[in-house]
Amino acid sequence: MNIIDKLIARPNNFPFRRLIWKHWYNHMASKYEKIKIKLMNYGYVNQENPQELELDNCDEAERYCIQLYDHVANAISLAGLKTLEVGCGRGGGASYVKRYLQPSSLTGVDFSQSNINFCRQKYQLPGLYFELGDAEALQFADNSFDAVINVESSHCYQHTDKFFAEVNRVLRPNGYFLFCDFRPKEAVADTQKKLLEAGFTVVKEENITANVCAAMVLEHQRKVEIINQQVPPIFRWLAGYFAAAKGTPMYEALRTRELEYLCYALRKQPTIQDQDLRQMPRIFETADV
Ligand SMILES: C[S@@+](CC[C@H](N)C(=O)[O-])C[C@H]1O[C@@H](n2cnc3c(N)ncnc32)[C@H](O)[C@@H]1O
Repeated sequence: MNIIDKLIARPNNFPFRRLIWKHWYNHMASKYEKIKIKLMNYGYVNQENPQELELDNCDEAERYCIQLYDHVANAISLAGLKTLEVGCGRGGGASYVKRYLQPSSLTGVDFSQSNINFCRQKYQLPGLYFELGDAEALQFADNSFDAVINVESSHCYQHTDKFFAEVNRVLRPNGYFLFCDFRPKEAVADTQKKLLEAGFTVVKEENITANVCAAMVLEHQRKVEIINQQVPPIFRWLAGYFAAAKGTPMYEALRTRELEYLCYALRKQPTIQDQDLRQMPRIFETADV
């Protein structure tokens, strides 16, 4: 793997990973502010029914990226839940989840100030908020959300175990963590281990590499057109690489399963302390009698 492969695909192995990604996303968001892209993931296709979701016309252009959000976030009912999204990017996923899946509120967090500025300007929906924040040091109080969503962002983090611990801290007991991202095949077991060590139980665990690759094939033409229209020629190879257009090393790594795309629905295990607190009213009732 070359330097860029290591940076993109190998969490924890690359020095200054966090700083490089922050610079990259800030640069992208400010330089290409006018590009109509609202989502930045590789997409998801149900191969038996590639257009399975009913979408409004305004969401059609980014259907496959939205389908990834739907696949991850719709694993449980989010209706009425206070929800956090970490790594919200340009906010298209957060906007979809708020409009279609009806959480009571959705707060999107990203460490790129330019992304957050873009989101605040673009979406004005009641109950949809955007804040600057770092996945490895979230600014929220303990037990403050019912659900946390994280889509194709964790490969940028310096320490995924810190991120998982932070998600566990901000979730209420029994709250849900809905998570997807790619990992080198030899790092899959370590990711699973870290999730369990952070205090989650697995509700659903899937390998969706084939579904993501199918979306990449369907998305190829759209990506090439955007890159050719918007990106100066000398940077086109880098943009293609980042977008994982067909034939790029990222696309090949997923196609040949050097990288695996994982998707989880997890639940925060209540601690013994939480369980003791739940017992307390009953103890008082007995004492009252
Ligand atoms: C590939 S984009 C995905 C964005 C969005 N989830 C989507 O699917 O459109 C990864 C996002 O993670 C954000 N990110 C990376 N590291 C982060 C960190 N430590 N804290 C918060 N956000 C981070 C980046 O700024 C970027 O917006």
